[in-house]
Amino acid sequence: MPRYAYVNGRYVPHREAAVHIEDRGYQFADGVYEVVTVKDGRLVDATAHMDRLARSLDELQIAWPVSRPVMEMIMAEMIRRNGLTDGLVYMQITRGVAPRNHAFPDAGVRPALVMTTKKMNFAKMTKFTDGVSVITAPDQRWTRRDIKTISLLPNCLNKQKAAEAGCYEAWQVDPHDGTVTEGTASNAWIITEAGELVTRPATHRILNGVTRLTILKIAEEEGLPFVERAFTVEEAMKAKEAFISSATSFVTPVIAIDGRPIGDGKVGPICRRLLAGYNEYAAGLRAGGAEWPDEIPADEPAAPEAA
Ligand code: PDD
Repeated sequence: MPRYAYVNGRYVPHREAAVHIEDRGYQFADGVYEVVTVKDGRLVDATAHMDRLARSLDELQIAWPVSRPVMEMIMAEMIRRNGLTDGLVYMQITRGVAPRNHAFPDAGVRPALVMTTKKMNFAKMTKFTDGVSVITAPDQRWTRRDIKTISLLPNCLNKQKAAEAGCYEAWQVDPHDGTVTEGTASNAWIITEAGELVTRPATHRILNGVTRLTILKIAEEEGLPFVERAFTVEEAMKAKEAFISSATSFVTPVIAIDGRPIGDGKVGPICRRLLAGYNEYAAGLRAGGAEWPDEIPADEPAAPEAA
């Protein structure tokens, strides 16, 4: 089955998909994105991801390239065309194509929309059962991390450090106070000796993960005590359990930080319980969770407006 990408009004073979060299995303990282998980053919937490996309666009004064319902139709069509059962939908909106100039282009310039999908075999991923190791690294990002911008260079540099250390993720540390902000592409959590779930509150210092919000809901349903507050690397080292969360990591247990085992160095019971809860949620067995398309549309949606 050929793989399709969506680029500014057209579904094109993935390997032929291209954008203009003066796209502001390419030149200035002037754009936003979302990653939505697809499980069993359905989008997980699609509404929350689209709400966050709306917020990111608003914060950067970028207009919707197509209306939100049309965008949702394109997502469904991408799932159908690519025969996606398990994996993700990636969507990116940039301010558009204009001669290079830092200030925003004229109002007539249309934002550019690109969408791709990726197949993933969640059932075979050992990270969920075996856990992963993380390193810590200084957080070198700007002060509006709540906006899901494509400007990800500091994240890439820290993720590369993690890869070089043979680790899955880097927990970024605020150089001013030694607290963990979040991972390079995930939120960070610990479970204290007393059994309390701790994660940083959603301020400008972190991205308010959609998975993070879902896990807080699940913790509440399960009667697990939690608190939203910052924690230091030192405290994390003494935690009973730890994990990361994201659209593609769900609840991924962290068994070592900077080479030091967390708890007994094995995946713990609270991580297992939260992951089971999340899997139920994503499968539509709890309120919310698996969303549209309920049925993969048989027909193509009306052609989106051309760019
Ligand atoms: N990253 N923090 C950062 C910096 C992230 O990039 C992400 C997601 C998260 C978790 O957000 P959510 O639960 O909504 O996925 C937190 C995506 C998956 C990525 O960049 O690929």
